[in-house]
Amino acid sequence: MALYSEKVMDHFLHPRNVGVIEDADGVGEVGNAKCGDIMKMYLKIDDGVIADVKFETFGCGSAIASSSMATELIKGKPVSEAMKLTNQAVAEALDGLPAYKMHCSVLAEEAIQAALADYEQKSGSEQNSGKSEG
Ligand code: FES
Repeated sequence: MALYSEKVMDHFLHPRNVGVIEDADGVGEVGNAKCGDIMKMYLKIDDGVIADVKFETFGCGSAIASSSMATELIKGKPVSEAMKLTNQAVAEALDGLPAYKMHCSVLAEEAIQAALADYEQKSGSEQNSGKSEG
């Protein structure tokens, strides 16, 4: 009877990793033109691993729960793994979302992809330091 799973409610009411990373290695911002919701992801990447991730979401409860869960899913994971995160995986980890709310989880996938793309772009142009560390 409940429209939203307990996990969705938990992550909506107590979102993890909310905030800003000032010196982020990658930042991605995406929006859904239809509902007007906006999601921003910040990544701190250390040695190819997502050392820290934070988000700001101006959006519906499902978008907040999705971004919270998405950050939990990629934190501590290699960049290559984070790149494979899909909105399906986010929704599954939340024990499902109503069909008409699936697009909210897409926002989380896109925000992470955008932040990773930003990181790749930045690190691509900064490949000149710290090559061989003892
Ligand atoms: Fe817009 Fe959920 S209604 S992201």
